[in-house]
Amino acid sequence: MSFDRSIKIAPSILAADFANFGAECEAIEAQGADWVHVDVMDGHFVPNITFGPTTCAAIRPHIKGVMDVHLMITPVDPYIDAFAQAGADVITAHVEAGPHIHRTLQAIRGAGAKAGVALNPGTPASAVSELIDSVDLICVMTVNPGFGGQKFIDMSEKISALRRMIGDRPVHIEIDGGVDPSTAPLVAKAGADVLVAGSAVFRGGSVSDPAPYGDNIGAIRAAASGTYV
Ligand code: DX5
Ligand code: ZN
Repeated sequence: MSFDRSIKIAPSILAADFANFGAECEAIEAQGADWVHVDVMDGHFVPNITFGPTTCAAIRPHIKGVMDVHLMITPVDPYIDAFAQAGADVITAHVEAGPHIHRTLQAIRGAGAKAGVALNPGTPASAVSELIDSVDLICVMTVNPGFGGQKFIDMSEKISALRRMIGDRPVHIEIDGGVDPSTAPLVAKAGADVLVAGSAVFRGGSVSDPAPYGDNIGAIRAAASGTYV
């Protein structure tokens, strides 16, 4: 996984057909997705349950590029090895998920994955100020985690503050929640480079009619790049 700050679109399979993850991953990659974002929820840290490492391992052969696993679970540490062995390239844990986020990030890197830290909307940028050298990605939640299709919460000032903290270091800023062609320019301007989008990518398409996925990905990318279509 090489580092660059170009805009990367990461469709969230939370908005895909859950009975067809393999084909959905192949379809979004064929339609221009840069990363595949995989939302793991435990019904405890967030009020919804999705799936775990077994499902991640099952979809891994259907993803050519980056598998970006977002853990909305607590505790995190007992499951890190399982997600790494499932083939996650990036494993992101929430700073709110426990008292020992630094240990969690060390364990993620120790397991051979890139380490991400996510911040809920109510958590300030300063919560990760001591972690910048311990992470490869900072995920700024622009909804309260748990569900797709929620309204975007503007976190532009937090994104800008994180961008300043990061400086020249090779750390991605990822935005998760409510990203569509109308909100993508705000977050890109503030310094984000990885844009997660669920409903705004999958709407209107299916594995048997995947062209809308490509149109949707293209519209978000164009908006983030300042060339509205
Ligand atoms: C929310 C998840 C997001 C979500 C994004 O808890 O982490 O990845 O699926 O979905 P949209 O783009 O529909 O807000
Ligand atoms: Zn997510």
